[in-house]
Amino acid sequence: MNPARGSLLGIEHLEAAEIMRILKFARRMNPDKPRTLLKGKRVLLLFYEASTRTRSSFEIAAKSLGAHTVLIQATGSSVEKGESLLDTGYTVRAVGADIIVIRHPNAGAPYVMAQHVDVPVINAGDGLHEHPSQALLDAYTILRNKKSFKGLQVAIVGDIFHSRVARSACHLLSKFGAKIILCGPAELAPEIAATLASGVRVTRHIEDALRGTDVIMLLRVQTERLAGLKIDLAEYIARYQMNPARLKMAKKDAIVMHPGPIIRGLELTSEVADGAQARILEEVRNGVPTRMAILARAIGRMR
Ligand code: NCD
Repeated sequence: MNPARGSLLGIEHLEAAEIMRILKFARRMNPDKPRTLLKGKRVLLLFYEASTRTRSSFEIAAKSLGAHTVLIQATGSSVEKGESLLDTGYTVRAVGADIIVIRHPNAGAPYVMAQHVDVPVINAGDGLHEHPSQALLDAYTILRNKKSFKGLQVAIVGDIFHSRVARSACHLLSKFGAKIILCGPAELAPEIAATLASGVRVTRHIEDALRGTDVIMLLRVQTERLAGLKIDLAEYIARYQMNPARLKMAKKDAIVMHPGPIIRGLELTSEVADGAQARILEEVRNGVPTRMAILARAIGRMR
């Protein structure tokens, strides 16, 4: 079965015009002014991995559009008892889900689900693959702060290798001609990452990444993910941590983004996290209108 119309499985195969349509529609969405676009619909949130921002923001978005939401988490459900992904999919479909939002540790899990259920499936993060709603809300945030993507220089710093956020962001930004510089030690920012999309290059030097940059996107450096890699955190901090002195290397009006959760003292200092150029909480806020647009699109109401 082909994925149902309105599914959002990744950014890579989404056309630039469709991305703009979602971003424009998101501008019209306001969670403080609830709408009825999804009135009576059931949105199933199927989370096989921990999540704070993504889950709560999909939930608020769905409710702001008049939908009911049901949260199924890996712990405390049949998933924990060993039920397969597809059997869970069939079950949630049978109880009357109109949209399935899924986060899963395996790349491709949302695709598998979408091939077997006849309702739109939204990928809320799959393994090391994609995180399309995060890329869209990041794009939304960039456009609220910068005129356009054209000619924009974006530095992505941190654990790129383990980041589905970075992958989706590269696909999205490259479709609009932005210059993307990936920066980190070789284990976290391998050379091959430059082949992700056009306009992407890799550097080991933070000065090189920051010079002339409009947007600095920091990524989580999660210590549990580093097992087996030769990463010395003290050295990471010395070479890559975003601090006020480094921030000055970028353009004066550069903004600092981070998908969260942030680790103060590792990826960035508190001065930067709480400083005037940070847009980290704004990103969280922008997740709601963006996901309202994604959900409205899922059922063909993005008009
Ligand atoms: C990210 C994720 O889960 O991919 N967080 C998020 O959704 N806001 C980033 C991460 O966990 O590293």
